[in-house]
Amino acid sequence: MTTRHEVCPAEELTPGERRIVEVGNLAIGVFNIDGEYYALNNVCPHQLAPLCEGRITGTVTSESVGEYDWEKNGQIVQCPWHHWEFDITTGESVFNPHKVRTRTFDVEVESKSDRDEQVSCYGTSLQGDEPPVQTYDVEIEEDIIVLYI
Ligand code: FES
Repeated sequence: MTTRHEVCPAEELTPGERRIVEVGNLAIGVFNIDGEYYALNNVCPHQLAPLCEGRITGTVTSESVGEYDWEKNGQIVQCPWHHWEFDITTGESVFNPHKVRTRTFDVEVESKSDRDEQVSCYGTSLQGDEPPVQTYDVEIEEDIIVLYI
């Protein structure tokens, strides 16, 4: 079963930025990469460094000797202790993606209309001669980033 945790208004986490949040006993890095959001466990699988505090960078790939390409710019986080690199979008390490990885979490942006729908789901309708109850206007004004754990 997943639980929902609000991180921050979407406008506070612009492309290229990250925010590290604590949810229960977990520390989780939430990243905005070109308008898409990703979340990683803030623990490096090597020696448990705070991985998500590392430098955000890209990586070099090579098909043959003397040729190389710079790829995934802004999509790689480099561990601050020993510089192992991880793909923020998958949690996989760059050097051994099939065996070394960090945990990822689902993260979404909920719009005002998404939350308006949720609010209406919680409402009840009156039937018959039931007396009316006091009602209040409720508005949600901004998109928020939500983490599912
Ligand atoms: S603790 Fe992250 S590379 Fe060593």
